[in-house]
Amino acid sequence: MIKVGLIGYGKAGQAVAEVLRNDPRLELCWVARRTASANPETVLTTDIPIIGLNSVSLDEWLDAHPVDALVDFSKPDALFLYGEEVRKRRLILVSAISAYGEEELEYARSLGVRTRVLCSPNITVGINFLILAAKLLRSIAPFADVEILEQHFREKPEVSGTARKIAESLAIDEEQITSLRLGGIVGHHEVIFGFPYQTVRLIHDSIKREAFGTGAAFALTQLATCVPGFYTFDDLLMQKVRNQFVAA
Ligand SMILES: NC(=O)c1ccc[n+]([C@@H]2O[C@H](COP(=O)([O-])OP(=O)(O)OC[C@H]3O[C@@H](n4cnc5c(N)ncnc54)[C@H](OP(=O)(O)O)[C@@H]3O)[C@@H](O)[C@H]2O)c1
Repeated sequence: MIKVGLIGYGKAGQAVAEVLRNDPRLELCWVARRTASANPETVLTTDIPIIGLNSVSLDEWLDAHPVDALVDFSKPDALFLYGEEVRKRRLILVSAISAYGEEELEYARSLGVRTRVLCSPNITVGINFLILAAKLLRSIAPFADVEILEQHFREKPEVSGTARKIAESLAIDEEQITSLRLGGIVGHHEVIFGFPYQTVRLIHDSIKREAFGTGAAFALTQLATCVPGFYTFDDLLMQKVRNQFVAA
């Protein structure tokens, strides 16, 4: 069982905590947020403590509450608060922070020299699988027309970052993205391949934030089988694909 500490207990972190604590392969040992509450908090109906990184010595906390891995759903600067503990203790790190700059990424890569580090600005299994499958089909059929359709809730002003990432990974122009804004749609991404005599549609629909937890759990269990290094979600999926074909 992999013992896990979760950094960040906001909108995403709370959903992720639920998934991690219900996964039999993992033990969620504690959660850290920026600020400690005056009253000791715990995760929902459990004894899992919630601490404030601004009010504990992480070194002492980790001595008393050791874990094998950290999962980060906080903010970019938190990396520098716990990074040296990750390096020293060779903890597995799964960081889902979407907005790392080059400085944070370089630091995360340096941690990967001693331990296993994953940085994934999009951590859902479904979207990463969709991108992998779309890249494969694109390489098989470079002549097919490709369009991306994304649908989100009415208030979302900008083109989906995930749709732009899909376009980039398929080397197609962002003009091939069509955006629809409708009611309360959480997130719909569709890659459409138009062949002369057939059409292929790869579709992903987001339902709840818990999907981030499923991705983090996959990353933790997959990283546990890896040698030290800096990984992307794609690397972990490709490992699975390779193992599947070798086993077949
Ligand atoms: N990769 C993905 O697919 C994906 C998906 C969703 C979210 N995310 C990322 O997850 C992060 C959180 O998103 P959210 O929507 O949950 O944000 P949020 O609701 O604002 O929650 C942020 C959480 O991080 C904590 N925090 C902030 N700075 C910290 C620090 N220096 N040390 C420790 N904890 C700190 C906050 O502590 P307090 O509670 O004390 O304020 C809060 O619990 C963002 O960086 C976002 O990019 C990634």
